[in-house]
Amino acid sequence: MSDPYAHGHHESVLRSHEWRTIANSAAHLEPLLRPGLSVLDVGAGPGTITVELAERVAPGEVVGVDASAEVVAKAAALAAARGVTNLSFRVGDAYRLDAPENAFDVVHVHQVLHHLSRPIDALREFRRVVRPDGVVSVREVDYEGTFWYPHSAGLDEWLDVYCRMHRGLGGEPASGRRLKAWARAAGFADITATASQWLFTTPEDRAWWGGMWADRALQSAFAEHALTQGVTDQDGLQRISDAWREWAADEDGWLVMPHAEVLARS
Ligand SMILES: C[S@@+](CC[C@H](N)C(=O)[O-])C[C@H]1O[C@@H](n2cnc3c(N)ncnc32)[C@H](O)[C@@H]1O
Repeated sequence: MSDPYAHGHHESVLRSHEWRTIANSAAHLEPLLRPGLSVLDVGAGPGTITVELAERVAPGEVVGVDASAEVVAKAAALAAARGVTNLSFRVGDAYRLDAPENAFDVVHVHQVLHHLSRPIDALREFRRVVRPDGVVSVREVDYEGTFWYPHSAGLDEWLDVYCRMHRGLGGEPASGRRLKAWARAAGFADITATASQWLFTTPEDRAWWGGMWADRALQSAFAEHALTQGVTDQDGLQRISDAWREWAADEDGWLVMPHAEVLARS
């Protein structure tokens, strides 16, 4: 991997990534999907969105690429279990895709650019491999714009620690608000910019999202990077974990993560 990956692939991280679908993470692209399109999914992770993309565009061919061999194997196993045959996964790098120019109708990217130190270079690479009449679809979170209720000093601490740790690795936690500018800088002429959010407030969603972050705060690469960088200490991680459990248990609990999208054409 060319840049360090802030989250890693601990089970608590994959718990979040495996929840993702076209409906909750790629609705902006959905109206453009039709049978026969070829699709490249860059930074496909465990592949839950990729598998759905393959189902929508069959018999079009879909390729999922990720820098982590471990997560590529997981995604391939998911495709096999779902019986999806127009889909393959391989290890690859967003900056140097193993594909010729004009190879795909759609390049799909979900929550990857915020981990890259050179997001504009990656967008230029996506532009190289998409057909002249194709579309590059990118959706990026804006961590710094996350807001919640009720007030929680522990969640304030989480956001501060997360953003400092992520920037320490060369990523940009407030990518969403920059995405349109990055697409313009990469040379796309026709850009449709939209926004959407993830909302967690039902008891089930709070238990799942809050429980996941309570675990991630103590066990995932987030914890390791934050400790290594000296952004917080073990007591700080424990406060963050406890704050997530408290928020999840509160019936008034409500949290929104804003996301930006672009549909970019040459
Ligand atoms: C937040 S996950 C998103 C996964 C998937 N797109 C989803 O939304 O479920 C980011 C993924 O990007 C991958 N990644 C990070 N840097 C990459 C790079 N330079 N090239 C390809 N993949 C990369 C990570 O391994 C990780 O699986």
